[in-house]
Amino acid sequence: MFHSKIVGVGHFVPENVVTNHDLEKLMDTSDEWIQERTGIQERRFYTPPEKGSTAKMAYKASLIALERAKLKPDDIDAIVFATLSPDFYFPGSGVLLQHMLGMGTKPALDVRAQCSGFIYALSVADQFIKTGMYKRILVIGSETQSIALDLTTRGRGMGVLFGDGGGAAILEATEEEGKGILSTHLHSQGEFADVLCIREPGTNEKGHSVYENQHLQFDKISPQMDGQLVFKNAIKRMPEVTMEALQANGLTPADIDMFLPHQANLRISQMVQKFLRLPDDKVYNNIQKYGNTTAATLPILLSDLWEQGRIKEGQLFALAAFGSGFTWASTLIRW
Ligand code: UT7
Repeated sequence: MFHSKIVGVGHFVPENVVTNHDLEKLMDTSDEWIQERTGIQERRFYTPPEKGSTAKMAYKASLIALERAKLKPDDIDAIVFATLSPDFYFPGSGVLLQHMLGMGTKPALDVRAQCSGFIYALSVADQFIKTGMYKRILVIGSETQSIALDLTTRGRGMGVLFGDGGGAAILEATEEEGKGILSTHLHSQGEFADVLCIREPGTNEKGHSVYENQHLQFDKISPQMDGQLVFKNAIKRMPEVTMEALQANGLTPADIDMFLPHQANLRISQMVQKFLRLPDDKVYNNIQKYGNTTAATLPILLSDLWEQGRIKEGQLFALAAFGSGFTWASTLIRW
């Protein structure tokens, strides 16, 4: 039986740093409100002349992950790409990345599980590796949020929360027992789909085709959220799914060396940390500098820690995420 080991991670964010004070100039908000409610100080947005896209950030992150793993694109058998902000409505960004990396006719698929996207993608890749179908898989979380955000007072509820960025991880088959991805646990609850969503362009608004619809309404094309309902569910589901993973592996929170919570709100991360009774040095947050980068959040956290030399052989990492869908998920990784 094969297991999946992470042999390289990388990330890329646009150069343009947008601080809370920059947003104050665009809308009725304040650095104080944003920091107090979310912990965010700044985020990155692609802004001209810097030209980028979700697939291009993934490409740059992939090159770093490949270099750290001492591998070439040719060594990769498949791509699993998580994003809610693809370059095109279709096809997905996976094939664009596949072409950029010059991967011939290797397969690429996109995963749409929003903030939980990276763990869902890891889980899909892990199954391919466990069955022996593929030996090395490039797993991506990448998002260009800035294009959909309304950066006026009308959109401030969402506009201050998100940022652009991309992350990559390379999974490799190993026969070593007890190493790599120990398990993934995935959940969804579609009854809450419209609690956090972008409606258009979509097929659920009956009675018009996109060609007839000259007047797409603001509330359909920009992200909408019932923030408090999402918050309440996030602080319940993230600890729950982390405990599910620990129990399935005969472990307890005390066994965790590093906990990486999806970065939607520093207050959510702190509450989940409190529930799991983890000390500060066992939890890593970087929402302060990147905002919420949705599917890119967890690989960016991993790559940040990799750069800081804080990922050590034998350590147990727990990752948990919650977001639109609702979807939520966890994974345990033994390095
Ligand atoms: O990644 C996907 C998962 N997403 C999440 O997990 C997000 C979960 N939700 C949250 O993190 C929080 O609900 C938010 C940070 C989004 C909002 O914080 P909140 O404490 O729930 O605030 P609120 O929505 O209840 O709004 C409080 C007030 C409102 O004004 P009134 O009605 O009290 O006068 C808002 O209009 O804050 C106002 N407000 C703002 N004020 C300044 C909303 N956005 C802003 C803003 N700046 N950007």
